[in-house]
Order: sequence, then C-alpha cells, then structure tokens
Amino acid sequence: MYLEEADVAEELNPSTAEEEEQQIKPRKNGLYPGVSDELAESMASGWADTELHDLQPIAQATHTAARRAALSRRFPGERLVIPAGNLKTRSNDTEYSFRAATEYAYLTGDQTEDGVLVLEPTADGHTATIYLLPRSDRENGEFWLSGQGELWVGRRHSLGEAEQLLGLPAKDVRELPELLREATGPVRAVRGHDAGIEAALTDKVTAERDEELRVFLSEARLVKDAFEIAELQKACDSTARGFEDVVKVLDKAEATSERYIEGTFFLRARVEGNDVGYGSICAAGPHATTLHWVRNDGAVRSGDLLLLDAGVETTELYTADVTRTLPINGRFSELQRKIYDAVYDAQEAGIAAVQPGAKFRDFHDAAQRVLAERLVEWGLVEGPVERVLELGLQRRWTLHGTGHMLGMDVHDCAAARTESYVDGTLEPGMCLTVEPGLYFQVDDLTVPEEYRGIGVRIEDDILITEDGNRNLSDALPRRAEEIESWMASLKG
Ligand code: GLY
Ligand code: MN
Ligand code: MN
Repeated sequence: MYLEEADVAEELNPSTAEEEEQQIKPRKNGLYPGVSDELAESMASGWADTELHDLQPIAQATHTAARRAALSRRFPGERLVIPAGNLKTRSNDTEYSFRAATEYAYLTGDQTEDGVLVLEPTADGHTATIYLLPRSDRENGEFWLSGQGELWVGRRHSLGEAEQLLGLPAKDVRELPELLREATGPVRAVRGHDAGIEAALTDKVTAERDEELRVFLSEARLVKDAFEIAELQKACDSTARGFEDVVKVLDKAEATSERYIEGTFFLRARVEGNDVGYGSICAAGPHATTLHWVRNDGAVRSGDLLLLDAGVETTELYTADVTRTLPINGRFSELQRKIYDAVYDAQEAGIAAVQPGAKFRDFHDAAQRVLAERLVEWGLVEGPVERVLELGLQRRWTLHGTGHMLGMDVHDCAAARTESYVDGTLEPGMCLTVEPGLYFQVDDLTVPEEYRGIGVRIEDDILITEDGNRNLSDALPRRAEEIESWMASLKG
C-alpha cells in the first residue's frame, strides 16, 4: 500500500522531526512531486472538527498517579525519562506490531509508540508530563504526506484528549529531544526502548544510575494493586477460554500440525486481549520435553500428550501464563497418568507453600521434594531423597525453577534485586506461577524406554492473599480425571 506516486512517499517520508518540519511545508508551483497545487489545497481543507470533549479518565488513572507518586518519592530532585519505545522495522516500510514498554504503560496507562513520560523535579516532588505525537496537521500536508500521518495510521488522540484520558499534561514529543539536550541537573532514563531519546541524553546519564531506575520500577511491580489483580484475573479467564478452544479443535490439529493449536489460541488472544503474552508453546508428543518449543510445526498424534503453555495478554498488557498437559485422545495412558499425578502432587505441595510470610524459594523446594520422592520411588535415581535433593540429581528431569512473578511481563519484575525477589518474602498482592514439570528426553538412556519422550508440566497463576492464596487460573481443571471429563464434555 503506497501513496499513489511511490516516489512522493519516498521523498516525503521523513526520518527525523527536523526533516519532517522542512519537508511537509506546503510547496507552491508543483514542488510536491506528482502533487498538483490544486490537490494539495484540496487536501488541506474541508475536514470536520472531530475534537472530543469531556472524556472520562481511563480506569487505571488513579493507580498510575499513585505509581508515579511512589517513583517521585524515590528519586527527589531528579529528572526521570520513561519512553514507550518506537516501531521496529520488519522490512523497508513494514513494521512489527508495537507493544509499549512495560515501565511506560505501568506509569501512564498509555500504549502509544514514541510516547515519553517525563517527571520534572520541583521543590516538593515532580511534575509529570506525557510527550506524544499530536494529531496530524491537515493544512501543512502532514496528515497525508507523512508516514506517521493519520490518513495512514489512523486517528490519534489530540494532546487535549490525552490529557483528559490519562490525567496528566500532554505535550508534543517532537519538542522533547531539544528540551532534554538543553536540560540541566541530574537525569535518569529507562534504556533500551527509544534510541532517539537516549541520544539526546547521552552526556547526561550513566548506566549505573539508569539501572537503579529500572530496578525500582521492577520492584514497584512486585505487589499488584487492585486494577492489576483484576487484569490478571481477566487474562486467566480469557486464557481458560483459549484452552477450551484448543480442545475443541484437536481433531483438526491432528489433521494438520501444532500450528493449528497455536493459531486457535492466538485467535482468542487477539479477539479478547492485545496479544499472547509470550510465544505459545504447543508441544505435542516428545516436543513437550523441549522447554521453549515455539516452532510448533510438529505432528499431533492420538495417544501422545499435548503440553500447551500459553497466556492471553489483556488490552491493558497483563498476561496469564498457564500450562496444561492433555492426552490428545482424551484419556491418559497408565504411565502418562503416573507421571501426570506426580507433577500434580508436586504442584499441590508448591501451591500450599505460597503463603504470605513464606520465602519465595519455599514453593520451589516443596515441589522439588515431591518430584524427587517419586523419581526415587520409580527407581530412576538412587535415594535417599535427602541425598538426591542435596546433589540436585532430580534436576536432570525437573529442569527449571518452579515459578516466577507474573504481571505485565510474563517473567515479571526481572530486574528486581535478589534480596527483594528470589531471596525475598511473599506478600499479599504478589502474583506468581507454580509450574513444576517432569521431562524425559527421547534419548535419555537412564530411564526405561517407555518414559522417553514424555513431558508433563502443570502451571497455574497464584495470587497471594492476606490469609493464603487464590488460584486465578482455576477455571481450568488440573486433576487427571477432571481433565479427562472436561475434554470429553468439550469434544461432545
Ligand atoms: N511460558 C513461560 C514460562 O512458563 O515461564
Ligand atoms: Mn508458562
Ligand atoms: Mn511460567
């Protein structure tokens, strides 16, 4: 899809704000190549005023304000710069779909590419301003002759509209690089999202100080507020519906490949949410033993298990992270069920250990102990269990940690310090996954042949409450017999 005259788009598609400024000025006497003055004049006028008034603030506006206030308290007297990020080119004029940086969306509730949140220090805190690309100017041709023109990419909010929706002042982002270059005083920025903003700050920031900002914004998200908990519940409920969709089409997947499962879940994620929160793992048969199986191009066979690890990301960017291991023909074999039940028991022990005041490591230890006990009982590793755990011998088959924080990122709060997260204590409002698994590789000569190629994981999203925990993903069955009857009811 190009402008009618491709060379016009080429010439007028600006690469910097300055170039845009110069290039989109109306030029007389046919100076827009291929655009008559008459057409330029026609396109500049005759448009209705569509400004929206009296908009209600977004649902999370009070929460984003509280999050910004906490950030302000942590870094008094410093200018803080938090960009949304830019579109990434896929090929020439085609971009990957955009997903705003977590820190920016967390602090603003906005998801617009190129947006930047700036907290300017004041005598008693900060003034927050959001910098955005405003609506396209119609008179100077930007509307239709610029690559970011609304004719091409759709209507944006005006700055006035954005102010009403987000509850903070909005300014033109094209003015920001210059403001930042000229600014004096200490500055910190979230890195890795907007090279243009980082270039404007290059002589003003240091990696160490910027990392402290990133760490703070990661740790701030360890305990979720009421809006976030509701979003995570929404994500889990949509995800449960996506799993049901998959069960209903397993016969079609058998006739095609794992891709049918991936596409089916993706449909649910796009219709009800923003996207999937991570690449769906649709692992049939021995692919279940490959932890990050996202190629999803394998055969789906009756008699095998399907390990489906997938999560819907809501429109406000909170994701679920759920795994179910399902018998493709609807019935577990005896051995599949034995392994499944061991993982189920490990998950039960893990979930029971998710309590306010417990250490983060406790639920991992509880789940690993159950799995080690079964591996010893089955004769796959020599006991006693204490020795197995001490030497970590069960890890040949358990492979990964039993869970992680969950939120806007699937592996949420990843920049948090060890003392606040991995060595930390669980608090009400934290949300984490409990996801033990057993994986017997196809070429593992240390286990009987019938175990080889079986992988089982069960993963749920657990909210820590004042008096225990709540399983946000319990709309999906977990016990083997419940899985079987649920599948039978869906397949009709
Ligand atoms: N889906 C990635 C994980 O479970 O951590
Ligand atoms: Mn997962
Ligand atoms: Mn997970």
